[in-house]
Amino acid sequence: MKTYKIALLKGDGIGPEIVEQAVKVFDKTAEKFGFKVEYDPADIGGIAIDNYGEPLPQITIDKCKAADSVLLGAVGGPKWDTQPAGNRPESGLLKIRSSLGLFANLRPAVIFEPLKKASPIKDEIIGDNLDIMIVRELTGGIYFGQRGRTEENGIPCAYDTEKYSVNEIERIVKVAFDMAMKRNKKLTSVDKANVLESSRLWRETVNRIAKEYPEVEVNHLYVDNCAMQLVRNPGQFDVIVTSNIFGDILSDEASMISGSIGMLASASLSSGKSGLYEPIHGSAPDIAGQNKANPLATILSVAMMLKYSLDEPEAAQAIENAVGKALETYRTPDIYEEGKIKVTCTEMGDKVCSLL
Ligand code: IPM
Ligand code: MG
Repeated sequence: MKTYKIALLKGDGIGPEIVEQAVKVFDKTAEKFGFKVEYDPADIGGIAIDNYGEPLPQITIDKCKAADSVLLGAVGGPKWDTQPAGNRPESGLLKIRSSLGLFANLRPAVIFEPLKKASPIKDEIIGDNLDIMIVRELTGGIYFGQRGRTEENGIPCAYDTEKYSVNEIERIVKVAFDMAMKRNKKLTSVDKANVLESSRLWRETVNRIAKEYPEVEVNHLYVDNCAMQLVRNPGQFDVIVTSNIFGDILSDEASMISGSIGMLASASLSSGKSGLYEPIHGSAPDIAGQNKANPLATILSVAMMLKYSLDEPEAAQAIENAVGKALETYRTPDIYEEGKIKVTCTEMGDKVCSLL
């Protein structure tokens, strides 16, 4: 039987609870579709600081490299807020992205029909179908640029640098064009070219690559305008491609259109087939350990893994369908609405399994 080896990085806060539900759904899917999944747990984030003194020990990197794919929960929490800058749980996340070369972050913002009312955006604005794919550059820009502290005229200063090479822009832009070709052939590139030099290089590069994709309709938006357009008329978007930091911000915004940040999955891919899959939300320390978290973004991350890394598109579709069905009746507190049955994190996992 085909066996997939998955590095399991539960992380902190609600990470372990949501990953547990995703594993349950993964196993049930495997049983139905005739494959096996083997898990190799490893530490990242705060738990790794506790166990190894650093947020991403080499052993975790090795396990991820040896696996067919990586499933991650979430990292961070108040316990580690006093760690020095380079040793915070979040640095573990940045380091795993760069160590595995995961430069392409796919963040789909889709809305499940039963959740339309849970969205803070009016029905008529959402329209019939919200299906946006945000392609976020993940291993460059200000997240990885030079940063530091200095002093000018005796006054303390700090700086972070946004820098992109043309190669870094090209490879992410090509991923986005390829994605647009498989979808509705519309690409919006988001930058701040009216102010930033790095954005001007970004825009020039998009326009040059566009010549290789004559079928794709390309437009450019400044990031502030894009933030506004996302809540004014989200239906205008198909694929959005943007830098690391703009993608971070816009994907949180887009997630709310779908009802809750607890719903959105993500895939981080390198040039090969391997990838890391995680919900876009954080570790929610305020509700950790209370069995209240919404596991659906992590469960949907497994679906993305099946689609993008494991070549099991039917299994992926089955999970998405089961999630859609579960939402018709059952809701975790973040997406609860009257008339539905409120369930715990564990119960939501069970419901998805039983609907598979
Ligand atoms: C995300 C998160 C991370 C990021 C943080 C936790 C470092 O917000 O994956 O969107 O900014 O990339
Ligand atoms: Mg973010």
